[in-house]
Amino acid sequence: MTMPDAQTATAAPPPVIHREDYRPPDWLVPDVALDFALDPAATRVTARLSVTRSGAHNRPLRLDGDGLTPLAVRIDGEPQADAWRMDGAALMIDLPGDAHVIETEVEIAPEKNSQLMGLYASGGMLCTQCEPEGFRRITFFPDRPDVLSRYVVRMEADKARFPVLLSNGDRTDGGDLDDGRHWAEWRDPFFKPTYLFALVAADLVANRDSFATRSGKEVELAIWVKPEDLAKTEHAMAALKASMAWDEKAYGREYDLGEFNIVAVADFNFGAMENKSLNIFNSRYILADPDTATDVDYDNVAGVVAHEYFHNWSGNRVTCRDWFQLSLKEGFTVFRDQSFSADQGSAAVKRIEDVRALRASQFPEDAGPLAHPIRPESYMEISNFYTATVYNKGAEVIRMLHTILGADAFRKGSDLYFDRHDGQAATCEDFVTAMEDASGVDLARFRLWYSQAGTPRVTARLEHEPAGGQARLTLEQGVPPTPGQPSKQPMPIPLRVALYGEVTGQTFGGERLVMLEDAHQEILFEGIGERPVLSINRGFSAPVTVVADRSAADLAFLSAQDDDPFARYEAMQQLMVDTLVRAVALGEGDHRPVIEAVQETLRNAALDPAFIAEAVLLPSESFIGDQMPVVDPVAIHLAREALRRDLGQELEDEWRASYAKTHANRYEYTPPAKGLRRLKTVSLGYMAASGAPDASVIAFRQFRDADNMTDRQGALGTLVNSQWAERDEALKLFYDRYRGNDLVIDKWFTTQALSTRDDSVAAVEALAGHGDFTLANPNRVRALVGAFAVNQKGFNDLSGRGYRFLADMVLAVDKLNPQTAAKLIPPLGRWRRFDEARATLMRAELARVLATPGLSKDVFEQASKSLG
Ligand code: PHE
Ligand code: ZN
Repeated sequence: MTMPDAQTATAAPPPVIHREDYRPPDWLVPDVALDFALDPAATRVTARLSVTRSGAHNRPLRLDGDGLTPLAVRIDGEPQADAWRMDGAALMIDLPGDAHVIETEVEIAPEKNSQLMGLYASGGMLCTQCEPEGFRRITFFPDRPDVLSRYVVRMEADKARFPVLLSNGDRTDGGDLDDGRHWAEWRDPFFKPTYLFALVAADLVANRDSFATRSGKEVELAIWVKPEDLAKTEHAMAALKASMAWDEKAYGREYDLGEFNIVAVADFNFGAMENKSLNIFNSRYILADPDTATDVDYDNVAGVVAHEYFHNWSGNRVTCRDWFQLSLKEGFTVFRDQSFSADQGSAAVKRIEDVRALRASQFPEDAGPLAHPIRPESYMEISNFYTATVYNKGAEVIRMLHTILGADAFRKGSDLYFDRHDGQAATCEDFVTAMEDASGVDLARFRLWYSQAGTPRVTARLEHEPAGGQARLTLEQGVPPTPGQPSKQPMPIPLRVALYGEVTGQTFGGERLVMLEDAHQEILFEGIGERPVLSINRGFSAPVTVVADRSAADLAFLSAQDDDPFARYEAMQQLMVDTLVRAVALGEGDHRPVIEAVQETLRNAALDPAFIAEAVLLPSESFIGDQMPVVDPVAIHLAREALRRDLGQELEDEWRASYAKTHANRYEYTPPAKGLRRLKTVSLGYMAASGAPDASVIAFRQFRDADNMTDRQGALGTLVNSQWAERDEALKLFYDRYRGNDLVIDKWFTTQALSTRDDSVAAVEALAGHGDFTLANPNRVRALVGAFAVNQKGFNDLSGRGYRFLADMVLAVDKLNPQTAAKLIPPLGRWRRFDEARATLMRAELARVLATPGLSKDVFEQASKSLG
């Protein structure tokens, strides 16, 4: 079988689509009726489109297709044999008048669809994924987000195999047919683009509930899963109801239909999808119970449920004009889900987690060959732009608007945006304009955040003149060059700043918001009677790197005194990073300041244990690498382990005390209990690092006796990194206990892929041959291959075996699922950050991938850009 989007090594590269080439659609499709005769092997799709000419032109109607052959074409009810032609994969029809009814028929094979785009089969069910361009794999249509239609969907299927038939909107009709089949009709009254269409035919059961909106409308809620998973849907349901209430309160947004359905599916390319009133989820973001899901999993379930629900306004009611505007819906919706989660538990810990994620995934992207602005200028394959930049940096950009305008003006701006653009396909520009109009604040220069890529670097220097009682803060900024953008303009950077008196421990006049607009700026502070200590970018008010050159003593002071929890965490991290970077460079480091600061934090009874656990954790090996001109994975690992060992030994009493404090608790899912569990496993890690002879016994006991997955997986992680005899036994017990539970077996793969032991490459190669490993399930691929690629030490093994393994996997997965394959490539694109030997090996693997015939355009784009 040849794939329609296949790319051979000798063929011309795929065309590049440019943002500036946007043109409004020539034809609109206000109404569409779809008829599905469903069958996994052969599904017949009949589409009836009412089309209207838009503007004065005589261009033909162009209907996108991907792998489709028209079996019939009818125009205004008349069968046509030669009134249409194919232009590549698209169907072209010359039409005389301004309004016509076009009918097409195609046949598709869901069970052969391994890309998981369009209509596909997963574990006996049929479901769709259309964003961004999957609808064209179902039927011929102008498959672009600025063509909005009202849908009527009729489907029929075998009733025994597919008793549940769902689509968007409300079910309006249905019944039984002869020969064991049945049918259903669904109507969605809201205009929507193709990418929000969805259909599910399955044998599932529902957790049902309801929600009364603030205007008193009753909404029927249902979460559809396999019968054996029903007991794992309570947390998702609670999160859904909390999200619905939160969006009313925080944004004044009410749900707009009588039904809201969520379906969980095991094979899914992303996290979840916000199809209008029929969200389809990767089951890992729905299913949770204490025995199989960690606290992090619980938080992710709630966060993703909220994210998809919030899209009903930020994405669906107001959608995107074109895919370059993706951050319009994603950046805003991530900001909304982050705010929701912050309101559900510890806002400080949530902020720390979000910044950690940004630094782990977005900062490297912004510093590498795949860097792009949150609103990209061009792409070959849009699926490659569902990135940490568009999502997470996009959310930081919205957060900066919130900071600059203040909560009230921001809310006025969002109200204006939703009012003004309801039912439309909008742009990022529309969003900023609404914020500007509602607040009266000029955001002309702020728009640079949409057009310039790269993480700005801010240098801060604080000088004190005791005589005049003045302090001068000198700020400089620069934005590094990125592909296609050699030179940048200074950006408006909102920096929350406070000065602390080093003796009094008090701020001078609290916090202030400094807007850094220029390349160089000086700010004068008056009435500074004692030496001030600088607390800057508090709350991570801007997604920038700050170089502030503060002494270890000042950082330790802030880590103990700062009243902004993020700044406090940040000071500790900076102290640790400075210590480790110096240790790598000099082969030796003074661990005292870190040990004392950690001790002070551990002993501070006023602090939330969840915060303590975050604060005392060392920065990851990758983050340390990101701070160095050339990453030396082995030296970083050794330096970090040495510091871990010293922390473990010097503070042994503290670790044992915090372990004991948290150990006796029975499982409950509350923020305080979560915090204690987190601190418990962090303490266990340090006890293991100390080399204490009983650490293996304690770890194994935690593993064996745990009444929840957080404790069990936490202990397993410690065991897996160790040389202890209990290690293999724990892995075997874990596997045997959870065999057949795919989401937990994913954890078993991931824990081993992240191992810091020297044998991790060999172990990962062997795991790829394990009977439970499959290339067909994206979760499994990510659990082993995706996880291993962020194991800095193992992946960058000097033998080059890690690189070869990853390239082999990219090529194998690409044959089945190009989107998932392409997402594995970025770690190979980081070759510029490594020594010559490793860089050469990485480049050779990228070149080998590129030389392979039949590459998808997804992989071609990522590999060719990564090779640079
Ligand atoms: N739009 C989805 C989300 O962010 C992500 C997604 C993209 C899912 C493409 C599937 C395919 O919520
Ligand atoms: Zn989203």
